[in-house]
Amino acid sequence: FIYRARVFDTPTDPFSGGSLRSESDVALVVDDGLIIARTDFASATADHPDAEVVDLRAGVLIPGLIDTHVHYPQIRAIGYLGKPLLDWLDHCALPEEAKLGDHDYASALAGEFLTGLTSAGTTSAMVFGSHFATAMDTFFTQAAEVGLRITSGLVTSDTILPEPLLTSVERSVSESQDLIDRWHGKGHLRYAVTPRFSFSAGQELLAAGGQLVADNPGIWVTSHLNENRDEIAGVAEKFPEALDYLDTYDRAGLLNRQTILAHNVHPSDRELARMAEVGAASAHCPTSNSNLASGFFPLRRHIEAGVRVALGSDVGAGTGFSLFKEGVQAYFMQQLDPSGGLPLSSAHLLHLATAAGAEALELSDQVGDLSEGKRFDAAYIQPTEGQPLAVGLEHASSDNDALAKIFAMGTPADIAQVWVDGRLVKG
Ligand code: GUN
Ligand code: FE
Repeated sequence: FIYRARVFDTPTDPFSGGSLRSESDVALVVDDGLIIARTDFASATADHPDAEVVDLRAGVLIPGLIDTHVHYPQIRAIGYLGKPLLDWLDHCALPEEAKLGDHDYASALAGEFLTGLTSAGTTSAMVFGSHFATAMDTFFTQAAEVGLRITSGLVTSDTILPEPLLTSVERSVSESQDLIDRWHGKGHLRYAVTPRFSFSAGQELLAAGGQLVADNPGIWVTSHLNENRDEIAGVAEKFPEALDYLDTYDRAGLLNRQTILAHNVHPSDRELARMAEVGAASAHCPTSNSNLASGFFPLRRHIEAGVRVALGSDVGAGTGFSLFKEGVQAYFMQQLDPSGGLPLSSAHLLHLATAAGAEALELSDQVGDLSEGKRFDAAYIQPTEGQPLAVGLEHASSDNDALAKIFAMGTPADIAQVWVDGRLVKG
C-alpha cells in the first residue's frame, strides 16, 4: 500500500529541543505492516507501480496513540464524579471489579474495552487488568484477535480490598505464572506483574511479584504510585521500614526499566532520582487527577529529574479513552498549577500521546512515529465536514495550530480509520 497523506508526528522530542514534523503530502509505502519508504508520491509510485494507493490527504494522519495506564475492568465505571481516590475505589471501582468473577460479564467487558481503545485511535497500551485469572484469559484472547499491542497482567492484592478481590501469595504466583506461560510474547501481547498498589499488598505479595520478574526475563511491572495524600499516608504506615512509597516496590524487586507507575502526583526528590536511575516511567493521567482531585502532576520536576513520562487515560477514574482529551487536560493543568507548570505546545501533547508512550513501553524501535523502518500503527483524523474541528483544520494558521485544534476539539468520532501493524482495526 501507498498511504498518501498529510502526516504529523514527533520523531524528535519537543522536551529536548525537538519539534513537530508535519508534511502536507507524503507517501508512506507499507509492505506487510512495515513502512519500507517515506518519500514523495511520484517516487513512491515509480518504485512501487503495483501498490494500492490510499489517499488520506483530506484529513491528518498521526501515529497510533499510546495509552500507558488504562483499566480494563472499569469501562462501565467511567463518569462517576465527586469522590477522592479511596472513596471512589470503595463506592465505584471495586464493586464493579468484583463482577468480573463472572466469565460472561468479563468477556463482554473485554470486548467493550478493546472497542474503546480502537475507537479512540489507541494502538498500544499498558492495560491494568482484573483480579480474576479467568477474566485475564478472556481479555488476552480477545486482545490477540484484535491485534493491539497490549501489555497487561493479573492484578493482585491480599489485604484491605473486598474479599472477592483478594488472593494469597501462592495463588497469585501460580495464576500469574500460568498467564505468563500462556500469553507473554504471543503476537503483540506482553505480561505485566500488577500489584494493585502497596496499600492493598503485603510485603510478601510484592516480593512474590519481584520473584516472577526475576524468573521471567522480559516481563513488565505496573502499579500505582503517590496518587493521593491519604493513600500515601496509609502506605507509609503499612511499610515503616521503606524509605518512601517507591521503595515499597523497589525493595520487592519490582522497579526497573520495564516498570510503569501511574500518577506520581506527589513524589519526593529521592523517588524521582531513583526512577530516573533505573529508567522507570510515570504514566500521567490528567483527567483522573482532576476528577479525583488528586493534585497537579509535577511534570517540570519529572523532566528536570530525567524521569520518562507518557500519558494514560486511567479509565474509569479518567473520563474516557481519548488521548486528545488527556493531552489538552495535561495542558490545562500545567497552565493552572500554582507551583508553576510547564507550558506545553501541541507538539508536546502529540509527543506525550505517541512517541513518549512508545519509549515508556520500550516499543520505540517499532512504533511512536511514522518514519521509514517503523511498523504502520496510525490513526487517520477526518472530522465530518462542517463540524467545528473540520472548520478549524481548514482555517488553521499553521500545522502547530492545526494540531492544537485536534487536541482541543478532537474526539474518537473524528478518528475515521486506525491501523495496527498495517492492519485496519477501525473504519
Ligand atoms: N489505586 C489503586 N487502584 C486504583 C484505581 O483503580 N484507579 C486509580 N486511579 N488509582 C488506584
Ligand atoms: Fe489507575
